[in-house]
Amino acid sequence: MEVETEKKVHKVTFIQRNGEAVTVDYEPGVTPYHEHGREGSLLDIALNYHIDLQHACGGNCACTTCHVVVKQGEENLSNMEDDEEDRIYMADNLTLHSRLGCQAIVKGDVTVEVVE
Ligand code: FES
Repeated sequence: MEVETEKKVHKVTFIQRNGEAVTVDYEPGVTPYHEHGREGSLLDIALNYHIDLQHACGGNCACTTCHVVVKQGEENLSNMEDDEEDRIYMADNLTLHSRLGCQAIVKGDVTVEVVE
């Protein structure tokens, strides 16, 4: 008997600077990785779908242009590591729900607002 494996597709919603929300599918291990930011990060997913998320340092945790504010599903992102924590304090309009898109890895459904 063939065992059907559960397909994991995460819904990732980006609220863009113009206020328009776009929801895309992210399937770990299937969605292509283009070496910008951590694999499976919000930046990686945004670039796959041509969503305008700035990334001046190329996704290396060395700027704050990929700043997003998490609106829903914060628990579905990887925990913030020391590098991200040190860097994000330099972001304008910092909130308690701010993340760097290149560092936050998606593990479930999430909604974020693009800030920069
Ligand atoms: S792209 Fe520079 S910190 Fe994320």
